[in-house]
Amino acid sequence: MKLTQLTVALAACLLASCASLVGPEPATLRDAAKGSFKMGVALPYRVLRDAQASGNAGREFNRLVCENEMKFESLQPREGQFTFEQADALVKFAEEHDMEIHFHTLVWHAQTPQWVFRGPDGQQASKELVLQRLKTHIKTVMEHYKGKIATWDVVNEAYNQDGSLRFSPWRSALGDDYLRICFQAAREADPKAVLIYNDFDMPHKGKREAVAKMFADFKKEGIIDGLGLQTHWNATWPTMEDAEATLKAFSDVGAKIYISEMDINTQQGMRNSGLGLVRTSEAEGGQGAIADPDQALADRYAQLFGLFLKYKKNVEAVTLWGIADHYSWIHGQPLIFDSKNEKKKAYFSVLETLKKNR
Ligand code: XIL
Repeated sequence: MKLTQLTVALAACLLASCASLVGPEPATLRDAAKGSFKMGVALPYRVLRDAQASGNAGREFNRLVCENEMKFESLQPREGQFTFEQADALVKFAEEHDMEIHFHTLVWHAQTPQWVFRGPDGQQASKELVLQRLKTHIKTVMEHYKGKIATWDVVNEAYNQDGSLRFSPWRSALGDDYLRICFQAAREADPKAVLIYNDFDMPHKGKREAVAKMFADFKKEGIIDGLGLQTHWNATWPTMEDAEATLKAFSDVGAKIYISEMDINTQQGMRNSGLGLVRTSEAEGGQGAIADPDQALADRYAQLFGLFLKYKKNVEAVTLWGIADHYSWIHGQPLIFDSKNEKKKAYFSVLETLKKNR
């Protein structure tokens, strides 16, 4: 063998062994995000009948949240009648695809049946009765899923934009200290569970400061572990400064951070408020026309994933609120698979951003 041939052969061997050490290029989001955070997706029960959409979910994601099936009205529509069937089917799907499960949500002002707050006389139930119902629900559900759930949303959406407590029938019944009561009950039901407070609009200073303070207080009491940022955002709101300030504020108080319900609204001048669309204010931007929504979405996803990766020490998971545009709870094209379940530009921009930061 001539010297040049030998050199070429040696170089080829070296390259091959390097490649086997590094491993193949990741071809899915869950593999590309390995070592950074889990990649999650919200699925409704009906996705299980859609082979293409559920196939994409099981292949690309390693975390699952039920879009509605674990909410109070789904799990206990009538007092004492627990209906776990649809949620259990999604749990089974997750287990078959090696996905961890996030529970959403034990306590929320919405999607909770009226009976919870009504007394035997049809009037407002007493504090004691609501408290007993709260504890029964939390205990029954947490026991049913013990050992199966990675993380739990205990309370969802308790604050206004300015940091005051928002209206909630739970608050009316249990008083202003109801968040603490809920987290204590969840901790009691499962001392090892990872407990989360979840909300939207966190980039607003008043809200994030109130949430960070609540987190710091509850952390000292050992009753909370993480914060969920819904991230129903749009192409221009929030600014990167406000987005980063939020991640920093929550990192500073030692929270595990969950980007919990990400979608990017491509409709001009509109954004999600947690329960429906609202028109963005001037201060929130988002009034300008999006010339090329597909590209704008790809750029925005890449930009935000870049930020999440910068905070990957604290960010435990990034979850998209839907597997494809036609499953989204909002109109437009807010997700990374289109309404034919095909990968969009945004899918590839997320994959590339994750790969670059491995
Ligand atoms: C939404 C679901 O996506 C819809 O299907 C349902 O009709 C209403 O709720 N914040 C939350 C989620 O915490 O539970 C909401 O999910 C979206 C806003």
